[in-house]
Amino acid sequence: MSRTVYLNGEYLPEAEAKVSVFDRGFVMGDAVYEVTSVLGGKILEFEGHMNRLARSMAELEMTCDLTRDEWVEIHRQLIARNNIDEGLIYLQVSRGNAGDRDFHYPPEGTPPTVVLYTQAKQNLANDPKAKTGIKVISLPDLRWHRRDIKTVQLLYPSMAKMAAEAQGKHDAWFVEDGFVTEGSSNNVYIVKDGKIITRQLSHDILHGITRASLLKYAAEAQMEIEERPFTIEEAQSADEAFFTSASAFVMPVVEIDNAAIGDGTPGRVAARLREIYLDESLKSAI
Ligand code: PDD
Repeated sequence: MSRTVYLNGEYLPEAEAKVSVFDRGFVMGDAVYEVTSVLGGKILEFEGHMNRLARSMAELEMTCDLTRDEWVEIHRQLIARNNIDEGLIYLQVSRGNAGDRDFHYPPEGTPPTVVLYTQAKQNLANDPKAKTGIKVISLPDLRWHRRDIKTVQLLYPSMAKMAAEAQGKHDAWFVEDGFVTEGSSNNVYIVKDGKIITRQLSHDILHGITRASLLKYAAEAQMEIEERPFTIEEAQSADEAFFTSASAFVMPVVEIDNAAIGDGTPGRVAARLREIYLDESLKSAI
């Protein structure tokens, strides 16, 4: 079924939504994005995603004059026009059409290219993988050093997911200077003696919207949290491991580089956090 997508102020059938071959997003990877989940037709974590989008754009000196209310309206229109009950909304803003290939940014006033579309997903909340857990491999983190900016430069994460799949696993955790940074498209955690351990925020990782809310809910539930780096070896000897992202919420990890975590089944802390996260984020969904 053809989707209705949003492109620069218009709602169009997906086959009619066209972007220039000179678009900076296409030629230079000069674009930022957000992925927001929809449950029961409502948008989760809207403010968080909008704030991070604004931050990513500010860090890259990119501008876009859509207001918060206009962003809400676009999201809602796409949900309604595509009849989305459960799924994702992909949003991308590129620096626009430079009229030619050029390393220099296009002249001031060049409008950005704004694209949004929906991806219907079944079982986002009732994902069977949350019951079985997922298996990961570790790989060196070969990405650039501004991972806090959510750019569309996703070739290395794609390569990492392909490498994991080639080994019969689901995903990859990245390692730099001996410590885990994050997953290929998620923030990662281990649990030891009831304590949740996750790397602190910096330019080394994306500042996950799910991460921020999860840590808040965990603190409210009196769970102990330590924000510091950890190694693959420490993760392998942890009681539990899991990751968070807008598309997976809280997902247990049961194996890292062929070593089972705990008893090799999803842990209780991750299961509880997934439940809390879904309950709480639905309360603030719009
Ligand atoms: N990825 N780290 C990386 C590298 C990510 O790409 C993502 C999200 C996260 C988690 O952030 P959040 O909780 O805000 O989704 C962490 C999205 C889902 C994607 O690229 O599809």
